[in-house]
Amino acid sequence: MEEKHREGLMEEKRLFFPPAGFSSNAVIQNPEIYELGQDRTKFWGEQGKRLDWFKPWDKVLEWDRPFAKWYAGGKINAAYNCLDRHLNGARRNKAALIFEGELGDRRVLTYQDLHREVSQFANVLKSYGVEKGDRVTIYMPMIPETVIAMLACARIGAPHIVVFGGFSYEALRDRVLDAQAKVIVTSDGSYRRGNIIPLKENVDQALRTVTCVEKVIVVQRTGQPVEMQEERDVWYHEVIKNVSLVSPAEHMDADDMLFILYTSGTTGKPKGIVHTVGGYMVGVSTTHEWVFDLKDEDVYWCTADVGWITGHSYLVYGPLSNGATILMYEGAPDYPEKDRYWEIVEKYKVTILYTAPTAIRTFMKWGESYPLGRDLSSLRLLGSVGEPINPDAWMWYHKHIGEERCPIVDTWWQTETGMIMMTPVPGITPLKAGSCTIPFPGVHIDIVSPLGNAVPKGESGYLVVRGPWPAMLKTIYGDDKRYEDTYWRQFEGVYFTGDEAKWDDDGYFWVIGRVDDVINVSGHRIGTAEVESALVDHPLVAEAACVGRTHEVKGQAVFAFVSLKEGILIHDELIAELKAHVVLKIGALARPDDIFLTDELPKTRSGKIMRRLLKDIAEGRAMGDTSTLADAAVIDFLKKNINIEK
Ligand code: PRX
Repeated sequence: MEEKHREGLMEEKRLFFPPAGFSSNAVIQNPEIYELGQDRTKFWGEQGKRLDWFKPWDKVLEWDRPFAKWYAGGKINAAYNCLDRHLNGARRNKAALIFEGELGDRRVLTYQDLHREVSQFANVLKSYGVEKGDRVTIYMPMIPETVIAMLACARIGAPHIVVFGGFSYEALRDRVLDAQAKVIVTSDGSYRRGNIIPLKENVDQALRTVTCVEKVIVVQRTGQPVEMQEERDVWYHEVIKNVSLVSPAEHMDADDMLFILYTSGTTGKPKGIVHTVGGYMVGVSTTHEWVFDLKDEDVYWCTADVGWITGHSYLVYGPLSNGATILMYEGAPDYPEKDRYWEIVEKYKVTILYTAPTAIRTFMKWGESYPLGRDLSSLRLLGSVGEPINPDAWMWYHKHIGEERCPIVDTWWQTETGMIMMTPVPGITPLKAGSCTIPFPGVHIDIVSPLGNAVPKGESGYLVVRGPWPAMLKTIYGDDKRYEDTYWRQFEGVYFTGDEAKWDDDGYFWVIGRVDDVINVSGHRIGTAEVESALVDHPLVAEAACVGRTHEVKGQAVFAFVSLKEGILIHDELIAELKAHVVLKIGALARPDDIFLTDELPKTRSGKIMRRLLKDIAEGRAMGDTSTLADAAVIDFLKKNINIEK
C-alpha cells in the first residue's frame, strides 16, 4: 500500500518495556506461554477449562479443513458463562454494566440485575415463539437493553444479528432478509449529538416488503412518537412486566451458532459471518483477560459500538465471561464538549480504555488541553483496534492519555477471527509504536509471497493464519462455498486475511492494510463494490468506481469516480444528491468524501475498470503501468481535471 507509510513504519525501532510494577502484578508474567501456545490443541484445551460446561468436550479440535469443530461434543451456554456462574460468590453484587447516556443519565446493573433482566427478556422472546436456532435482529443504540437482548438470545440459543444503528433501512432490510429473522428488537430512537436517529421508523421502512418478521419489540429510549403496528409491534417495558425471572439456559452444542454479524467483502453483498458458542467464548475470554490484564477491581471501557465485532467480543462476551465491570457510553466523543471521554474516565475512574486510532487522531486534532483538563490517573492500560495506528498517534496516546505510564496494546484481528490474533501481552511483550507486535499464544500467523511461500524477516507480503483458532468463523451464513473460496483458496491450506503486512528483524508484525477491494474508513470496513452498487442505483448514474484514499483522521476515505448516463445535464446539487443516495442505501458511514464526474472510466481492453490507476490518481501519486488501458486519453482527462487537496 502507501509507500510512505510502509517506510515510516520500518524506521520505528524504539522498544517500550512495561513500567515498573506492571509486570510483577500482571495476570501473565511468564513468557513461557508463547512456547506453550506452540501446541495448539493442548494450549486451547487448557484454556477451555476457564469456562463452565454443562458437558465436557470429547475432543478439543476436529479439523476437517477448512471446517473446524472446537470442543466437539461439549455443551455450553454463552449467557450462562457471562452471568449465572458469577452469581454464587462476591461478584453477585458487583457492577456488571455501568451505563452513561449521552445526556448524562446513568444506570448501573449488577451481575444479579443483569441476570434477572436477561432471564425475563429470554422469556419474552420465547413467548413470541422464538426457539433455539431462530434468528433475532437487534437494531439498537448503545444502551443496556442491547446487551440484555444479545444475552437473552444467547440464553435460549437464538442467534442474534446486531445491525449497527448507523446503517440505513435498506442495509437493515438486506440483513434481515439474508438471515430470515423472526423478531427485531429496536428502540424508538437513538441520541446522537443531541439529535435523534429514528430507529423505529427505519425498521418500519425496512419491513414494508419483508414477511419473515413476526414481532418488533421496541425499547423506549428517546420518547418521540412512533407508529406502533397492531399485532406486530410491542413495547419492551410493557411486555417485560410480570414475566417470570426463571429461564433455564439452553444446553448448546459447542459448535452451535451464537451469532451472525455482517461485514463487507469484495462483492456488493455483505457476508454473514457465523460464530459458534464454544470456541468463540474460549477465544474471547482468554484474550480479554490476558491482553487487558484484567483484575477484578478494573473499570473496563471499550468505546466500540456493539454493532461491530469489537462490541461483541470485547464489550459483551469477553469481559462479562470474565466477570468484569464494563462501561458503556451511548453517545459521541464531542458531546456536549470535546472532553466527554476524559470526563467519563475521570467520573468512573476507568482503568482500561480500548478505542480506535481514528478516535485518537481526532483527539490529537482537538489538542491536548481536553485530556489535560481531566484527571486520568486511574488509567493503567490502553488499547487500540480497527486499523493500523501510525507511530505519531501511538506516541500521542502514550503521552497524553497514558501519561507515559500505561502500556498500549495494539490489537490486530477481524470480524472473521472473532478474537484478538496479534497483540502484546502487556506484562511480557515489549512494545513498538505502530506495531501490533506478535501473535497471541496459540495463534500461528505468517507473511507469504504471492506464491504462498513464507517471506523472510524484513520483507512484506500477505498476512495469513496457519491452521484453526478457537474463535474462528464457522462459515458465511448459508454459503459454505463462499467461505471456502474467500478465505481458504487464495493460498492453499491457510486462511487469507485480506491484509498486507511486514515483519521486522525482531519478528514484529506491522500491518499495512487491506489488499482487496475493502476500504477501512474510521475502522469500519466498507466494500468498494457496495458503494458502487449504491451509486449505480441512482437513476442518473451509468457507472461508478470507488477507491480508498488516505485520510489524516479517518485512515481512509471513499473516493468515487462516476460517469453519468448519456445526455444528463450536470447541476450544482448533483454531487450532494449522489452522496445522499449512498447514505440512503448504506448509511452515513459509507458517504464518499469526494465524487468526481467523468465521461469515461479507465478500462482494460476487455472492459475491466482499472481501479489501481484510479487509486493512483486519488492518492495523487505517479501512475503505475498503463499499457493495458483501452483508451489512454481517459487518464489524461482525469489527471488534468482532478484537483486533490489532502
Ligand atoms: O485491515 C485490518 C484492520 O481491520 C480489518 C478487519 O476489520 P473488521 O472485520 O471490521 O474488524 C475490525 C475490528 C477487529 C483487518 O483486516 N485492522 C483491525 N485491527 C487492526 C487492523 N489493522 C492494523 N492494526 C490493527 N490493530
